Amino acid sequence: MEITVQKTDNPKEKPDQGNLGFGTNFTDHMFIMDYSKDKGWHDARIVPYGPMKFDPAMATLHYGQAVFEGMKAYKSPDNRILLFRPEKNMERLNNTNDRMCIPRIDEEFCLEAIKKLVNIDKEWIPTAPGTSLYIRPFIIATDKYLGLKPSSTYKFMVILSPVGAYYPQGVNPVEIYVENEYVRAVPGGTGHVKTSGNYAASLKAQAEASARGYVQVLWLDGLERKYIEEVGSMNVFFKIDSELVTPALVGSILPGVTRDSTIELVKSWGIKVTERRVSIAEIFEEHKKGRLDEAFGTGTAAVISPIGELNWEGRSIKVNDGKTGRLAERIYQKLTGIQTGELEDDFGWTEKI
Ligand code: COI
Repeated sequence: MEITVQKTDNPKEKPDQGNLGFGTNFTDHMFIMDYSKDKGWHDARIVPYGPMKFDPAMATLHYGQAVFEGMKAYKSPDNRILLFRPEKNMERLNNTNDRMCIPRIDEEFCLEAIKKLVNIDKEWIPTAPGTSLYIRPFIIATDKYLGLKPSSTYKFMVILSPVGAYYPQGVNPVEIYVENEYVRAVPGGTGHVKTSGNYAASLKAQAEASARGYVQVLWLDGLERKYIEEVGSMNVFFKIDSELVTPALVGSILPGVTRDSTIELVKSWGIKVTERRVSIAEIFEEHKKGRLDEAFGTGTAAVISPIGELNWEGRSIKVNDGKTGRLAERIYQKLTGIQTGELEDDFGWTEKI
């Protein structure tokens, strides 16, 4: 399929790289492609970024048949434009589509479309330390119909946003509230895919944790409220003695690309990494024994986010004296070094545009 390009006549001013925050600035162009039963995915186009018109009865607005991905582009010191394991995001998008009754995309074609869009807006890729161009592919259901059924029409879109740190704390450790009342996902639900409703459902717990002075929540399993699943919108890792432990992907946890990369990276350093069920009681017990060295979250937006404190049922523990741990720091340096092309990519993870 050909991708048509309509360039903007009115390029915007680029934001100050020292003050980007996350997801507030958008580039000059966006990608759109439509789906209908008779034509399949069609009419691939890059057009000026801007507001769109939708019918108030549009299915997504009512029943949340919407999915998304998050990935990043970087400009290397020698001016290469790099994506980080983008095929993983395309593969996960199709897994999400399958679960949400959305037609599959052609992964190779969509990656080509993303590359073309990033290339057109390449002047927007920030180069200050800790910055990148966040890529947000998403699909929405566009049928004008209030009955509940999978839509027969969709839009696949990609927008781009130059970003800095996701959390205002940057890579400094954050205080976490272990959520005992609300749950993020249950077995058989949608926790293992990237659908918008998962994020909407997490807001209440997040808001209550913020009101208590905590930055994020740690989610426990939906059946027993016993086993650790994720933290905020990230996967979570614990360094217990000489081993790195992360919850196994039991069906209600999102399989993060940064999670997978962290596991591979740390294993390559000769450190034991175990994916298994981890209870919150075990973490508190290991802390008591002085064996809980570090805890941190991993995600595309947040990269590595160290945990400085955990509060569970009114009991609070400090992890690594509230400081960023050595392993978290080492992973952050190596991962971002590979992503930005500043360090050797021994894993073949980066893809040049
Ligand atoms: C990401 O890490 O890319 C995500 O999609 C999480 C989102 C809440 C920013």
